[in-house]
Amino acid sequence: MDVVCSGLSKTYDEGTRALRNVSFSFNGNGIIAIIGRNGAGKTTLVRILSTELMPTKGDASINGNSVVHDENKVREHIAIVPQEARAIQWLTPMQSIVSYLLYRGFAYSEAKERARSTLKKLGIGKYENVLNRKLSGGTKRKVMVATVLASEARVIFLDEPTTGLDPISRSDLWNLLSKLKKDYLIFLTTHYLEEAEILADKIGIMEKGRLMAMGSMEELRKRVRYQYSIRVIDRKVKIKTSKGILIHGLDGSKQVMTTEKEAFEMSKDLIKKGVKFSTNPVSLEDIFYYIVKKPMNEDSESEDNEW
Ligand SMILES: Nc1ncnc2c1ncn2[C@@H]1O[C@H](COP(=O)(O)OP(=O)(O)O)[C@@H](O)[C@H]1O
Ligand SMILES: [Mg+2]
Repeated sequence: MDVVCSGLSKTYDEGTRALRNVSFSFNGNGIIAIIGRNGAGKTTLVRILSTELMPTKGDASINGNSVVHDENKVREHIAIVPQEARAIQWLTPMQSIVSYLLYRGFAYSEAKERARSTLKKLGIGKYENVLNRKLSGGTKRKVMVATVLASEARVIFLDEPTTGLDPISRSDLWNLLSKLKKDYLIFLTTHYLEEAEILADKIGIMEKGRLMAMGSMEELRKRVRYQYSIRVIDRKVKIKTSKGILIHGLDGSKQVMTTEKEAFEMSKDLIKKGVKFSTNPVSLEDIFYYIVKKPMNEDSESEDNEW
């Protein structure tokens, strides 16, 4: 499986530059997660890769097929759950999946067979004949995922699959996706940074239409100046940093993001003083804020955005 993007740009009719020169490639099975705030361009990227929308400039390919020139070929390889997709209330999971598969060209008997086995595989077989409207939010979302998995497609797009789910249903869906990723290339977007950190083999950070960085957690960590974070909960303790940055938490806690060396020195000092603290490699959240808040010239087509 592979996805390659080269120099994708999209300007909507109203003049909004939703994508600016996005390039990256991914080869093999696994999960690519694109994170970014609302309006960053995630959905636009998904819509172009899934041939729903033409880029203004550039091209992309899925398993070697261009989204600009061979869109019908691309469609055989992919399946998508769009951001706004919801299970049709008055159908059952079985009916939803079968109708999707019929639409994709499967014969009725095979569609039924595939629907049944996929629902079972996802642990929701017992709901196959229950109306979607009677299912919980988490189960409904699994029905959407089951629908695309029941097809022959091995490149799956999930645009914000867990937005709006409660924490238990969310982690339930994470479990499912992490099991599936060995057999599929799953391209997902999210604004839950934790979701990307837990699931993804490669994480892309988007901001204002640009892909600011892309890589594994390890690779992204190397991009930031400060790779360690020290957190002190005790309100009364004063801490100072000479190399890093000090962040005051709303709860009175303090966090220092700093270099490995200073983190080490600081830890020794805090131990000596008997202060409770925790130290961790920086999280995706830390990296995200570091990368997104870095000042950039709005209109320049950054040279440094090929991943
Ligand atoms: N169909 C559209 N027509 C015009 N502008 C759009 C359209 N869809 C999205 N946009 C704009 O493009 C930018 C990126 O949007 P989108 O790709 O939906 O971002 P995200 O999915 O990251 O929230 C936003 O400024 C949005 O308002
Ligand atoms: Mg979106």
